[in-house]
Amino acid sequence: MRGDGETELAESTVDAETPLADATVGGEWWATGVVYQVYVRSFADSDGDGVGDLAGVRSRLGYLELLGVDALWLSPVYPSPGVDHGYDVSDPRDIDPLFGSLDDFDGLLADARRHGIRVIIDLVPNHTSDQHEWFRAAVSAAPGSPERSRYHFQSEPNNWQSVFGGPAWSRVAPEDEYYLHLFAPGQPDLNWAHPEVREDLEKTLRFWCDRGVDGVRIDVAHGLAKPEGLPDDRRQPGWTVVEDGTPDPRFDQDGVHEVHRLIRGVLDRYPGRMAVGEVIVRDDARWSAYVRPDELHLAFHFGLLNCPFAADEIRDTIDRTIAAAGSAPAVWTIANHDVPHPVTRYGSLERARAMALIALALPGTAYLYNGEELGLPDVDLPDSALQDPTWRLSGGTDRGRDGCRVPIPWEGEGPGYGFTTGTPWLPMPESYGALTAAEQLEDPDSTLSLYRRALELRKEHPAFRGAQIEWFGAPENCLAFRRVGTTLVCALNTGDRPVPLPPGDVLLTSADLTENGELPADTAAWLA
Ligand code: NOJ
Ligand code: MG
Repeated sequence: MRGDGETELAESTVDAETPLADATVGGEWWATGVVYQVYVRSFADSDGDGVGDLAGVRSRLGYLELLGVDALWLSPVYPSPGVDHGYDVSDPRDIDPLFGSLDDFDGLLADARRHGIRVIIDLVPNHTSDQHEWFRAAVSAAPGSPERSRYHFQSEPNNWQSVFGGPAWSRVAPEDEYYLHLFAPGQPDLNWAHPEVREDLEKTLRFWCDRGVDGVRIDVAHGLAKPEGLPDDRRQPGWTVVEDGTPDPRFDQDGVHEVHRLIRGVLDRYPGRMAVGEVIVRDDARWSAYVRPDELHLAFHFGLLNCPFAADEIRDTIDRTIAAAGSAPAVWTIANHDVPHPVTRYGSLERARAMALIALALPGTAYLYNGEELGLPDVDLPDSALQDPTWRLSGGTDRGRDGCRVPIPWEGEGPGYGFTTGTPWLPMPESYGALTAAEQLEDPDSTLSLYRRALELRKEHPAFRGAQIEWFGAPENCLAFRRVGTTLVCALNTGDRPVPLPPGDVLLTSADLTENGELPADTAAWLA
């Protein structure tokens, strides 16, 4: 590692003519590349208002290039009242002044390209904000009006629960009709049977593809169709997924596939672009339908994300994920903005580092979440700081997702740690001072250095090419797999004592091996 972390953190100079490298061998970039999720609010703040913005992202592209990612996924930056931090969109074809302007967006895209980094945006087609012009028109129109038909308005609500807690129906005024919102009341669900709703999504896709984005992440991809007549939920109310075999009427209706074919139809006219869907469907056969050749290019399976740190379960989950993806590339992720950071979820930094080597060794594409590469733990925020709508809507029983959304510590001292010169929108704890990117760049043993090395090997070492894996026999509480057709072996020890390594030259380990060269507990190794 170089010793001058400060200069490394600053934007590196690159040749403006550098073409975007194809991260794959004979395939599309999105099939094997590493995508870095930027939760824009929390990434880098350029204007001191305490909220991250597009100019902030631009200023840190040099860091992302050093890290070695192929693309970034920007969380929603559209005009939004922010009840769900941007997942409540009032205009899907503009930028919220909080984050910058369309010019800033274009500039970011151009700069990213110069750094060899592609850009994916986050589309939110399931619902709008209650401040979207369509919903405002619906509110001032009468029951039964065409304005209301783009949403789901009814005189009597059914028994559906919101994912965030409480009923999925609210009224715009006493005595008026109820409208459906599967998330916060400020996020009314669109009626996907309405042709204008579909046309508008096509328009949005074309708008951003014409600007040059490389792909779209589709929020709530399993929600874009509601059952005829909105029948009651026959399960215990409140669940977000199938728990007892009774289907969840709110999600995964057969009609969603028509919408995914529509999305694909638009993207196919833009070579190289892709869609990755958030698909929360537990049944693997039903999940698979979302990545049929004329639907989404990719979908998050979330099996690994939800899996405990236990070799047998991890192994089963990997097999299930690969089988479910079928001929589509698998998407591996151990972190995003909706779940606690890996360090917190797995219970230790050692385990989080080990799991990173698992996710990055598997065939397919890998998605990282900002801060994961720094080994940030979740922050235990005081009640008064909590902003996630879940906290209020669950009646204070669910603290929500703010703990993993605390801004990134870049360098120096609090309260802003280089993220902002102002007051960060969520307070950054003192413990983040020891985890800054600047410090970690200088430390060869840091989590950031581990990720950099892992991404470099993944990109450059020929052992990372095979599309299939095969399992080795492994000691109890351990697993080992090989990329078929190559020499890469990945081993993981989730037990509590060291075990011998499989044969091969060690490429990288998530922690030091023991003195006898054994793989310690809570450690993973790459060998070739
Ligand atoms: C999934 C997103 O990841 C989450 O952050 C958001 O709250 C819901 N969809 C609703 O849009
Ligand atoms: Mg700002």
